[in-house]
Amino acid sequence: MRFTIAQIREMKERGEKITMLTAYDYSTAKVLDDTGVQMLLVGDSLGMVMLGYESTIPVTMDDMLHHTKAVVRGTKKAHVVGDMPFMTYHTSVADALRNAARFIQEGGAQSVKLEGGENVAEVVARIVSCGIPVMGHIGLTPQSMNQLSGFKVQGKSLEAAERLMKDAIALEQAGAFSIVLEAVPAPLATLITKKVKVPTIGIGAGAACDGQVQVIGDLIGVFPDFVPKHAKQYARVGDLIKAAGASYVAEVQAGIFPTKKESYTMDESVLAELKQAHGLEG
Ligand code: KIV
Repeated sequence: MRFTIAQIREMKERGEKITMLTAYDYSTAKVLDDTGVQMLLVGDSLGMVMLGYESTIPVTMDDMLHHTKAVVRGTKKAHVVGDMPFMTYHTSVADALRNAARFIQEGGAQSVKLEGGENVAEVVARIVSCGIPVMGHIGLTPQSMNQLSGFKVQGKSLEAAERLMKDAIALEQAGAFSIVLEAVPAPLATLITKKVKVPTIGIGAGAACDGQVQVIGDLIGVFPDFVPKHAKQYARVGDLIKAAGASYVAEVQAGIFPTKKESYTMDESVLAELKQAHGLEG
């Protein structure tokens, strides 16, 4: 049985911390499903982490569904959240509903996430009214990087902080089951977390949030391009991959790999017949 949105809400009520990680493929999702993590987000960060784009903007619905299906196939316990990509929920409510439904119906996700606050509240309410749980995402919203002029901490001035507070309240009122706070000063995230009843899930938003989310590539050290300030590297898997790859290259070139142990045998009589037929005796 997968974690439900009711269980996730109850964790806030009990004061238990909620955990979420991103995942984009079957094998990693399967490993993470056994860690006890409550939610796996198939984030549009896959554009950078998996596909090598400079931002999340080129990511399409087809990209997202392809990876969501893989993560769902790899998991039994985690609640899988599909991240709605750029411009798939802005053009009309009908488009937003259709695309959100695809994550659930085709992708097999249990909920969707979208970026924005008051500006997307109506869309959130309509998706929720169709029975699809929605996670909000405010603060640094990477799909608006051009409008925000880059990846920067949000909500530092009184006006910007008030706007984020209003966004969080609007998402709660629209029926969002939780809200990601990205790159928000920790004291502001603390206030928002106290103000709303739905769980806040922080990334670069301090320890007072009801839960935390991290990008898996940052956590395990496989994303070589840059490590954000808010990320903690728990392993250096990139170094392990490099060492394993280099050992393989060296062993193949030296004739050390493969050995008999990694090879298959065949019937001696079949081999003898084949040798004779092709003049390859000896
Ligand atoms: O796409 C993503 O990985 C995200 C997280 C950073 C919350 O939106």
